[in-house]
Amino acid sequence: MQDVLKLIQERHSARAPFDPQRPVEEQDLRQILEAARWSPTAHNMQNFEILVVDDTKLLETLGKIESHISEEFIQENYQQLSFSEEELRQKKVGIIGTMFPPTWTDPAKVDEAVREISSLNRTIRGSPMLLIVIYDPKKRAPASEGDVLGIMSLGCVMENMWLMAQSLGIGFMIMSVFSADSIENEVKRVLNIPKNAKIAYACRLGYPVSAPAKYLRVRRDVEDLTHYNRFGNKA
Ligand SMILES: Cc1cc2nc3c(=O)[nH]c(=O)nc-3n(C[C@H](O)[C@H](O)[C@H](O)COP(=O)(O)O)c2cc1C
Repeated sequence: MQDVLKLIQERHSARAPFDPQRPVEEQDLRQILEAARWSPTAHNMQNFEILVVDDTKLLETLGKIESHISEEFIQENYQQLSFSEEELRQKKVGIIGTMFPPTWTDPAKVDEAVREISSLNRTIRGSPMLLIVIYDPKKRAPASEGDVLGIMSLGCVMENMWLMAQSLGIGFMIMSVFSADSIENEVKRVLNIPKNAKIAYACRLGYPVSAPAKYLRVRRDVEDLTHYNRFGNKA
């Protein structure tokens, strides 16, 4: 039991570069896919396909896709940032501003930020493998408004794969940018993904070249998020 909790606590976002020369071993990939396969999904819909991309040329092509940040992201991101470790420790939610380029963390610089053209390479950074999770938005869990249950199921797939990767010593990071409209269309074109399919998220994975960079990871306390019998009744 303790081992499961330890694995859950040690799972983290591996944002540092991976060893581009070290492909993900076939048996490790198999385990990650097996973990995805056994994910719980609403109505057991198994509403996902996983596209494994490890072809160097394709990875290069994906890396060249242009990306830029939206004003919406800058504004909403700003509201959730902390600007010192002390602030983050106190808030216990959100992330630290230093994770982003300086123009992304200052609403006064929003015009500058939205003009900056970057590429997916900024995020992919030499990863030997990507997993792209795709779903069919027309297939929803019965009577699930907005297919909330179907989308939650894709999150279960994410967590299963992430925990398995962590247990194998494989670095893993989610890249939501793949589901942004303009990028999604271009990724779909490059990878022959059917037009009616949606990209939920992509994961970059690989073997870390060094020990994970230390960064402050915070969570709310159990007592803060748990209510007993009636909402608001905390321990
Ligand atoms: C649905 C979802 C989308 C995420 N998208 C991104 C992303 O686009 N880029 C990124 O660096 N991390 C992304 N993350 C990782 C979260 O930022 C991260 O899990 C959170 O800050 C906690 O840090 P930890 O994973 O190291 O515990 C995403 C996580 C989830 C669950």
